[in-house]
Amino acid sequence: MKKAEMVIQTSLRKGGTDPIFKIAGQANIQIKKCGPEAVINSTIGALMDDNGELVTFKAVYDTLKALPNALIANYAGLAGQPDYLEKVVEACFRDCKPEGHIRAVATPGGTGAVRHAFCNYTELGDTILITDWHWAAYETIADDNHRKIATFPLYNEAGTFNLAGYKKSVLELLEKQKRVLTVLNTPAHNPTGYTISDDEWKEIKSFITETAQAQPNSKIILLIDLAYIDFAGEGDDARQFMKMITGMPHNVLPLYAFSCSKSYTMYGLRNGAIICVAPTEEIATEFANSCTYSNRGNWSNGTRGAMETITKIYSNEELFNQAMAEQSFYKAILRKRAAAFVEEADKIGLKMVTYRDGFFISLPCDHPKEISDLLMEKNTFVVPLGKGLRFAPCAVSEEKCRRAPQLILQAMKEVGDC
Ligand SMILES: Cc1ncc(COP(=O)(O)O)c(C=O)c1O
Repeated sequence: MKKAEMVIQTSLRKGGTDPIFKIAGQANIQIKKCGPEAVINSTIGALMDDNGELVTFKAVYDTLKALPNALIANYAGLAGQPDYLEKVVEACFRDCKPEGHIRAVATPGGTGAVRHAFCNYTELGDTILITDWHWAAYETIADDNHRKIATFPLYNEAGTFNLAGYKKSVLELLEKQKRVLTVLNTPAHNPTGYTISDDEWKEIKSFITETAQAQPNSKIILLIDLAYIDFAGEGDDARQFMKMITGMPHNVLPLYAFSCSKSYTMYGLRNGAIICVAPTEEIATEFANSCTYSNRGNWSNGTRGAMETITKIYSNEELFNQAMAEQSFYKAILRKRAAAFVEEADKIGLKMVTYRDGFFISLPCDHPKEISDLLMEKNTFVVPLGKGLRFAPCAVSEEKCRRAPQLILQAMKEVGDC
């Protein structure tokens, strides 16, 4: 990289538009030119209705807009409003609350939670373990905070969780550093839609327990990124694993990055929490103190009106039922869209990595950029990633989800990539 002029060398950045936003911008130009029907815009990581409009939950926005101005305008407590902190734990675990010393600290979305986990639970220069298919921001958050990233392949040959690869990487890192933080983005992983099954969780837990016992001077931090949880499984199915992730040796700490962005259509309101399920009260208090301090040192308080809205929804049965009904309604739409894409892809032999639930489906290929460029010429906008293409059923109608696989396969054939 070139030499910095005024910023310090490690803060010198390339600049330019994020590639996803760039493609999204091109899709919008085409929509203006040719009309929404002619364009498949699967670049957006937010839930859109069939007309391409952002979905917003009425229960959320009626509540927010009915708040007295002072409850929107005022500062929130540094750790988050106390009643919000209680309710966000409910929103995270619902009926699957694990045993343990649970504490929450409000953060601006799941991003803030990931940041606090990285900075408070790894040393400067440490390497953090993530999956090969991953949300690109993990790398940015790590890099911006002078941490490194190592990856292991998410899938084994059967297309399920690659436990052997996970074990190998955890053990390798523990040989190099005193502590290891692993990020598991599940259920409904971004960008693949993979969900770690309860049986796989059982094996992860046994491995972590044995490793922590064998290496009592090490620290193992399990960061579970739940950004898409409310669009996975039926009822509380996707939360069952949570009851299991506790009762491990005292040198293991499970942390949850909870986000209101997708679950409550609060993307821009920047609301979430980092939650610990600590084995002792001391570890829980230490967690709360360190993450509250980090709030002060980074963004101070969170968004008061967003916290008040969640608190109200979780304090009023009727409102809660309305919010849950809206979540379920859109979850069902998302599932129908994804099912249409998967069915069509299977029919024509378009290869996908295992998809279970959620906003995104990934298609492995060797020339993602070339295929994405070619698809753009056909008014189909799909995000190229390092290991393939990301299609977003969250943003595209069922009819377009059914149409897209053939277009993608055709483009892959033209590029010679299938
Ligand atoms: C995997 C993953 N984790 C966390 C987040 C955090 O989102 P937010 O900070 O808006 O809550 C996102 C958002 O796109 C995500 O895709």
